[in-house]
Amino acid sequence: MDHFHYHQGVLHCEEVAAPRLAAAVGTPCYVYSRATLVDHYDRLAAAFAPLDPLICFALKSCSNLSVTRLLVERGAGLDLVSGGELYRALAAGVDPGRCVFAGVGKQDDEIAAALEAGVGWFNIESEAEYENLSAIAARTGRRPRAALRVNPDVDPRTHRYTTTGRRETKFGVDLERARAFFRRFGGDPHCRLRGIHLHIGSQVERIEAYVQSIRKTLALVDDLAAMSPTPHPIELLDLGGGFGADYETAQAPRPADYAAAIGPLLAERVAAGLKIVLEPGRMITANAGVLLTRVLYTKSSGTKRFVICDAGMHTLLRPSLYEAFHFAWPCRVAAGHVPRTRTATPDLPGLEVVDIVGPICESGDFLAVDRPLPPVQRGDLLAIFGTGAYGMTMASRYNSQPLPAEVLIAGAEATLVRTRETYDDLIAHERASQPIALPDTSSSAAASGPTVPGIPTP
Ligand code: LLP
Repeated sequence: MDHFHYHQGVLHCEEVAAPRLAAAVGTPCYVYSRATLVDHYDRLAAAFAPLDPLICFALKSCSNLSVTRLLVERGAGLDLVSGGELYRALAAGVDPGRCVFAGVGKQDDEIAAALEAGVGWFNIESEAEYENLSAIAARTGRRPRAALRVNPDVDPRTHRYTTTGRRETKFGVDLERARAFFRRFGGDPHCRLRGIHLHIGSQVERIEAYVQSIRKTLALVDDLAAMSPTPHPIELLDLGGGFGADYETAQAPRPADYAAAIGPLLAERVAAGLKIVLEPGRMITANAGVLLTRVLYTKSSGTKRFVICDAGMHTLLRPSLYEAFHFAWPCRVAAGHVPRTRTATPDLPGLEVVDIVGPICESGDFLAVDRPLPPVQRGDLLAIFGTGAYGMTMASRYNSQPLPAEVLIAGAEATLVRTRETYDDLIAHERASQPIALPDTSSSAAASGPTVPGIPTP
């Protein structure tokens, strides 16, 4: 369910007509619907309410400050993966205790900043990372809580780039190593290793993959609690994210479907005091955003017909990187072309099969390939749907294209929540070129790098 709909042949986000927005802020531009964000968050929260989870919104899916603030005000904690995301999170006013900090490559200054801020849980991915966290914690005198990310070796059958729960990925440690991990670090005086973290992949439509991985992990939790001579009771189970978004109408399971399968596995444990964390990203944000782009030219080449737009792989990387499907449609259409569903093969008369491409100098620069579309011409506006997640956050300045604007709609009100970058922004960091005073790194102490200065608070 989302709040993007056609009214008299014109796409609206809530009560705002897309062409009016594009006229006001230009294109390309990301448009988010407040009502959709709130609705998606609330549905997820309601579905999982029996488990009373801490819902840590995955900031990486859509990290705009205003969107983050909105979800935080709604009750969300945050799933963070970098010092930059921590900085954003603090700027959005989240309680750091309601945040988890994940990622395979946490840097010392990021760890120090997260300790300083009082982040709720560190999700740990390796022995070496744990030792580093413990050492930094010992130096700062803070005693963080940590959850070990385990890799249950379950195949979520999603795109190979977004599969993380297989043994062959860089994420987490396998279940056997997890036992040894707790034996080795479970009694650490500097850090409280009390949690288990799981995240098997992204856009996981196979609910059974969650069931299998949770079952395997609960067996581990029981083993740890019974371990001798020192038992390791687990206080927190973080199930990660990965719940699917409907890129095509009614394609992915709904929050209630995931909750119905997962809830019964955990209900008794929750009643006995186990805390559950969820880290949803795209299920909340994907269909809460569209990308508006203007048609610059149309052209034919061989058998192909191209619609060339001002958005491309620099604005939305997912089609190029994962061959991801995003429904694309003109913002103004004749009555017969109002889409009833969002699918790759709309069953409507008078469509033309086109490639929707961008201005970037790469053949891999496309938003859609061989896609039936109502006839369009120069100046028309297109909407690329389902782009609220991993759209703007993966955008780049390739070909020196400034980053697009972001807009948040609430009813009839439109707010510019990120200004379009200017050409001056493109070169701002290059203006002050200056000679570098090179330090002596010949001794190992100097070569080991800076001691954790932390990250400034916003
Ligand atoms: N938790 C962890 C530890 C994660 O690594 C991720 C996503 C999430 C939660 C949120 O996953 P979600 O609920 O949004 O599926 N750029 C890719 C997705 C990469 C996801 C990386 N990790 C895409 O555009 O599909």
